[in-house]
Amino acid sequence: VDPTLDLFEEISKLKKEKNAVILAHYYQEADIQDIADYIGDSLGLAQEAEKTNADMIVFAGVHFMAETAKILNPTKKVVIPDFKAGCSLSDSCPPPMFKLFKEQHPDHVVVSYINCSAGIKALSDVIVTSSNARIIVDSFPKDQKIIFAPDKNLGAYINKVTGRNMLLWNGACIVHEIFSLEKIVKLKQQHPNAKFIAHPECEEEVLKLADFIGSTTGLLKYTMESDADEFIVATETGILHQMEKASPHKKFIPAPPDNGCACNDCPHMKRNTLEKIYLCMKYELPEITMDEELRLAAKKPIDRMLEISK
Ligand code: 13P
Ligand code: SF4
Repeated sequence: VDPTLDLFEEISKLKKEKNAVILAHYYQEADIQDIADYIGDSLGLAQEAEKTNADMIVFAGVHFMAETAKILNPTKKVVIPDFKAGCSLSDSCPPPMFKLFKEQHPDHVVVSYINCSAGIKALSDVIVTSSNARIIVDSFPKDQKIIFAPDKNLGAYINKVTGRNMLLWNGACIVHEIFSLEKIVKLKQQHPNAKFIAHPECEEEVLKLADFIGSTTGLLKYTMESDADEFIVATETGILHQMEKASPHKKFIPAPPDNGCACNDCPHMKRNTLEKIYLCMKYELPEITMDEELRLAAKKPIDRMLEISK
């Protein structure tokens, strides 16, 4: 790409020319969030993708999110800046293995976190996100046997708050799994007035310390509504951009991972760049395509979630 190009301007031009909409997850870099038409958590993004009138959806997130957009709105062209932007959680649950697991527990319903492939969605009864998992699990009778996949941390958290004993698939997110408990405790001591807030994909020991647990949208709202001036934030650092924009007078401290880095970035989310967004809009590639039978099977449990989350 010509280095003299003003990418913000070029992307805005392409948006109009092609009647495109840019949907971005909160974990995207600040520039991408600033050029997006909609920024949200997984539920918000799915709802937005379903209702958009644009001809092209540019999905600044990871593969399973763009795939969900295509499942919900198949007549639109869905492009993704980097086809390799995957998700460790989604990868931890291969459909053939999960199918065998499900067959071993025929009396269980399958509740799957949206961070999974279309193949897993097609094997599920209902999809959840971190913002509606509790309500959806609660909608089943107390004695209903449930398999929860693929995130064992979110599953354990939902088990705890609902008093259930769901059978958990052994998957986890590489980003939320590596927060350093020791460093968080130290930070809390250094900032005694700070609220410690965490995403439910974090491990139980981290969640135990949290003043508030929620999806990315939930965490953002909490920082806007809280009287506190300081927050230690245990989720991917991209979310801090919107927190700082919404409350410029408040201080946001990213919770440190235990890998020596100061911030906790998702390597998949951070594959996307402004330049790749420009290129994927210009060439309308890479595009998400899907087998129609798989799409319809994966759509059923997502529709069920969207119906409950209205
Ligand atoms: P939410 O934005 O739905 O909370 O999901 C977080 C996440 O890890 C997305 O990959
Ligand atoms: Fe997947 Fe975790 Fe990255 Fe979200 S933050 S896309 S769950 S690896």
